[in-house]
Amino acid sequence: MKKRNIFVTTALPYANGPFHIGHITEYILADIWVRHQRMAGNNVNFVGADDTHGAPMMIAAEKKGVTPQEFVAEIRAGRKQYLDGFHVKFDWWYTTDSKENVELSQDIYRKLKAAGLIYTQDITQYYDTKKGMFLADRYIKGKCPRCGAEDQYGDSCEVCGSVYRPTDLVNPYSVLTGTTPELRHSTHYFFKLSDPKAIEFLRDWTTGNGADGKPRLQPEVLAKDQEWLGAGAELEDWDISRDAPYFGIPIPDAPGKYFYVWLDAPVGYLASLKSYFDHLGRDFWKFLDDPSTEQIHFIGKDIIYFHTLFWPAMLHFAGKPYRVPDHVYAHGFVTVGGQKMSKSRGTGISPLKYLELKMDPEWLRYYLAAKLSSRVEDIDFTKQDFFSRVNSDLIGKYVNIASRSAGFIAKRFGGRVVDDAMNDPLLEKLRGAAPQVIGFYEDRDYAKAMRLVMELADETNEYIDREKPWELAKQEGAGEQLHRVCSVSLEAFRILTTYLKPVLPGIASQVEEFLNCGELTWDTVGTPLTSEHEIRPFKHLMQRVDMEKQLDQLVPDVKPEPKPVLPGNEAIAPECTIDDFGKIDLRIAKVVDCEAVEGSRKLLKFTLDLGEEKTRTVFSGIKSSYADPKSLVGKLIVLVANLAPRKMRFGLSEGMVLSAADADQKKTPGFFLIEPFEGAKPGMRIH
Ligand code: 2FM
Ligand code: ZN
Repeated sequence: MKKRNIFVTTALPYANGPFHIGHITEYILADIWVRHQRMAGNNVNFVGADDTHGAPMMIAAEKKGVTPQEFVAEIRAGRKQYLDGFHVKFDWWYTTDSKENVELSQDIYRKLKAAGLIYTQDITQYYDTKKGMFLADRYIKGKCPRCGAEDQYGDSCEVCGSVYRPTDLVNPYSVLTGTTPELRHSTHYFFKLSDPKAIEFLRDWTTGNGADGKPRLQPEVLAKDQEWLGAGAELEDWDISRDAPYFGIPIPDAPGKYFYVWLDAPVGYLASLKSYFDHLGRDFWKFLDDPSTEQIHFIGKDIIYFHTLFWPAMLHFAGKPYRVPDHVYAHGFVTVGGQKMSKSRGTGISPLKYLELKMDPEWLRYYLAAKLSSRVEDIDFTKQDFFSRVNSDLIGKYVNIASRSAGFIAKRFGGRVVDDAMNDPLLEKLRGAAPQVIGFYEDRDYAKAMRLVMELADETNEYIDREKPWELAKQEGAGEQLHRVCSVSLEAFRILTTYLKPVLPGIASQVEEFLNCGELTWDTVGTPLTSEHEIRPFKHLMQRVDMEKQLDQLVPDVKPEPKPVLPGNEAIAPECTIDDFGKIDLRIAKVVDCEAVEGSRKLLKFTLDLGEEKTRTVFSGIKSSYADPKSLVGKLIVLVANLAPRKMRFGLSEGMVLSAADADQKKTPGFFLIEPFEGAKPGMRIH
């Protein structure tokens, strides 16, 4: 089989903060795939980089009193501990703030310009005169033009969800200086994505196959693209320039203009590869130009537009030796206990904390693998699930096999297996699963791979349970059988280790060491252990762990997400069940009498008829709204009838009268008693 030459990247993280669990998940996803390719003997170049440009980096650096270059260099220096910590093995980690990226971004731009796909246009944009810069949407706030909510960003309202232009905001102000921005003109550079030839190319590219003959995009991603590219759809041209001051790459022949960060970010994939190849003394351009090269990007679902429209179009129209991606593989977000992660609510999982708590990185790798599929689905992290997958699957099923057999081989049989045990039907079955396991890895269906491997581990444990080596060990004359059973188990363990190696590289390397069997690859599945070489003494690979305390520290209890606050109103209360609601007994009551309470500024005293033997007395603090209490006599209202009676200064209150009120009493003052439709009778229950 011909070896594949694959170039793999993950999305470049912004260099304005440490990695969060979403980054680490993406890296583990890609790293597993890359390790699988290497086990298949393919050549892979796996590179990453920091995405350094843009206004946020510039502003963060300024706040810290350093240059943007210094700022991003410091962030970059912090990456290694995470990558090493989680066994994520990029061949090269670089930066978009590099000479290679300047060279390549400018080169691609010049070629796009030559292809007639770049034009300029004057636009009007808010300008912060104090700061001396144009303001991106996120740096402008103001009052929502639709609902009037204050302090909404320049592009959309978080309260009513409407989308608008910054110039639509009422009373806009600069987030940076608090001053009122001024509208100014500026010439911007545009990439003509609306060009019919771009659309035609993208329709073709999105529906095509990669060099491996598989569809270029996942079905969900293709569906998104088809919404954007469908008949009659128009793509908007892309504004690729920003005005100075901007931390970015200068646009050739355009003084004071820089590439918008999203133009040079994906070019950073190539810049990182080039820097790696220069380091190796390899020819980057030859590699790009080689028809057998495959280019594959792993990304999150939020950046599909950039990677499946802008990026392939840029590469295609820049022309050879640039090449279009073979595949762009998107994944979902990581949720914690079903909730989107949010720093402010403390629902994130900090990868650094995970490492600091001395939690095993391979637990997380296994856990994620057990949940990852080829689909664009969110992955939910829950403590309970994590605990049980690691303890019952990883340790209970897989690691346990070695613990149950290796000791005997070392102690009783001089560290040697018996050769004729190697064709046991169990082993043949395990080896026979290789094409399926490998296929699942290839298709990034890691959850299916893990499930299959755990089924095989179950069968192996059943075999051990049946054969009972611990009993054989005590029986006179059962030595041969014991030797055989332990040899089969250990070979099964070797095969299963191979199957888990992309996910558990650390354990796999310890196993290679202990089995003294050389490097495990997809090719060696069929090469059993032999009596020729000695197995080294077994060390425990991973213990069943009581990680509950660590998990509690790692995963903060998730508070329910507050519902959006409607203006002048309160947030909807946390969800309750129908049973919760059933505890509250609401009844129709007739106002028999109502009077102001003497000596109280707020209270009205109601005498209510619920159809019970006796009337009830209820106090309610709504006097301000009902200046003439007698006017309420004869009306039907709603009462919480089973509220514990409350002793008040003026007497016992036997329930609560329901009324509506605005949370912001200044806006809409007053209380509004709830009155049923006609026909309701005193004592009726409200369901
Ligand atoms: O969304 C992000 O985090 C971007 N920094 C991803 C860039 S990916 C590539 F284009 F560099
Ligand atoms: Zn609004």
